Amino acid sequence: MILENNAASTGKCPFHGAGSEFKPFDQTYWEDPYPFWENARQNEPVFYHPELNYWVVTRYADIKKILAEPASFSSKILKEAMRPLSQQAIQILREGEVNPNNTVTNDDPEHKKIRRPINYAFVPKRVNEMESKVRALVSEYIDRFIYKEKVDLVSEMFFEFPAEVLFEFLGFPKKYLSEIKQFSEQRLLLRFGNLPAEEQVKEAHGVVDFWRLSKKMVKEVADAEVTPDNFLGDLLRYRNGDDTILSLEDISGILYGLLFAGHETTTNLAGNAIRTLLTERHEWDEICANTNLIPNAIEEVMRYNPPVFYWRRRALKSVNIGGVEIPEGGNLLLVMASSGHDEAKFEEPEKFDIHRKNTKDHLGFGFGKHFCIGAPLARLEVRVILEEFAKRLPNLQLVEDEIKPIVSNLFARGPKELWVKW
Ligand code: HEM
Repeated sequence: MILENNAASTGKCPFHGAGSEFKPFDQTYWEDPYPFWENARQNEPVFYHPELNYWVVTRYADIKKILAEPASFSSKILKEAMRPLSQQAIQILREGEVNPNNTVTNDDPEHKKIRRPINYAFVPKRVNEMESKVRALVSEYIDRFIYKEKVDLVSEMFFEFPAEVLFEFLGFPKKYLSEIKQFSEQRLLLRFGNLPAEEQVKEAHGVVDFWRLSKKMVKEVADAEVTPDNFLGDLLRYRNGDDTILSLEDISGILYGLLFAGHETTTNLAGNAIRTLLTERHEWDEICANTNLIPNAIEEVMRYNPPVFYWRRRALKSVNIGGVEIPEGGNLLLVMASSGHDEAKFEEPEKFDIHRKNTKDHLGFGFGKHFCIGAPLARLEVRVILEEFAKRLPNLQLVEDEIKPIVSNLFARGPKELWVKW
C-alpha cells in the first residue's frame, strides 16, 4: 500500500500504515490534525482506511483532479451517512420520506437541472444587496456584547449570525432560526458524526422534522398571493408553475440543502478566521491598519484552516490515484484541509501569510461543476465581520486558556467556543 516512502529523504518518521494510525474521532488528533496529514502526504498520500471503508486522498493535485472529473467520480455518495446508520434510524428517515433532490448529492443530468435554477436566483445583485444589511447586523451584535469584559464569540455571534443572514437572503422566516440551528446540528451528527445507535434515533427524528419544515415553507410561499422578491420567489418564477422545469419538491430539496450548507460552514470560517488571525497577532494588526488586506486574509484562512475539512466522492470505475489502484465503486475521502498544506502546491505551507500570492488556488470551496454557490455570500459575511471588528475592536485578544476543543466529525472543523477580550 505504501507508494513511495520518501521518509529517508525528508528525515520524517515513516508511517506504519496510515490506515491504522488515522483516528478521525479521536479528540487529540482533532485538536491538531495537520502533522498527521503532513506525514501522510509525504509517506502514504493515498491510503485505505478499513474501519471507514474509504480510500483517503491527501494531496492537492489528486484532490483537484477528482473534483474536476464528475463523470468519473460521483457525488451521489453524499446522500449516504459517513458511518453506517442503525436499522431504526433508517426506518425513521424512510417513513419521513426524507429524499431531497439536491445539487451537492447529484451527478448530471440531475445536478444540472437543480444547479441551473439556483444559479438563476443566486445572482451577484442579490448577494451585493446584502452588504448593508450584513453590516448593520454585525454592528448590532457588537453593540450587544461590547460592554462585557469578555465573550465567547461563537455562542454570542458566530453560531447564529450566518443563519440570520441566510434567512434574510432566502426569505425564510426568522422565527425558525433556533429550530433550524438545532436540526442542522442533528443532521451534522447523523451524517458526519460517529453516534451510537440509540442517539441516532433522536437525530433522525430531527432530520425528518427539518425536511417537513422545508416542504411546508415552500408550499406556503407557493400558495401566497404575491410571489416575494427574494431567492425563494426567484425559484418560483423560474419554475413558472411547470413541474417538468422544477417541482415544488425540487425547491424543497434546494431549500433543505441551503439551510444546512449556508451557515454551519460560515460559522466555522468566522471562528477559524478570528482564531488564526489573533494567534498570528502581527497579521491581525496589519489588517486593522489596512482593511484592504482582508479579502486575501480570508482566502489564506480558507487554505490554512478551512471550515470544510473533508469531502467525498465515489469512483465510478477502477482508477489509479497517486499510484494506488482504487476499485470501481471505491469510496473516496478527500482531505480538503490537507490539500491546502501541500508543499508541492504552497510554499512554506505551515506559515500563515495573508500576503500569499497563490492562496486563492485553495480548494476550500471545492472546484469545478460543484464549486460552492454560496462562496460570495460567505466571503461577504466574513469580510464585513473582520472590517467591523478591525474598526471597533482592534485590541481583540484570545483568552488563551479558554479555547475549548472542537467537536469531531468527518466534515467540518472550527472552534466550539472562542473566548476573547478587547
Ligand atoms: C465558508 C463557508 C462555506 C464553505 C467552506 C463551503 C464549502 C463548499 C464546498 C467545499 C462545496 C463543494 C462540494 C462538492 O464539490 O461536492 C460547496 C458546495 C456548495 N455550497 Fe458551499 N460552502 C460555504 C458556504 C456556503 C453558503 C453560504 C451557501 C449558500 C448560501 C453554500 C451553498 C453551497 C451549495 C448549494 C453547494 C453545492 C453546489 C453544487 O453541488 O453544485 N455554501 N460548498
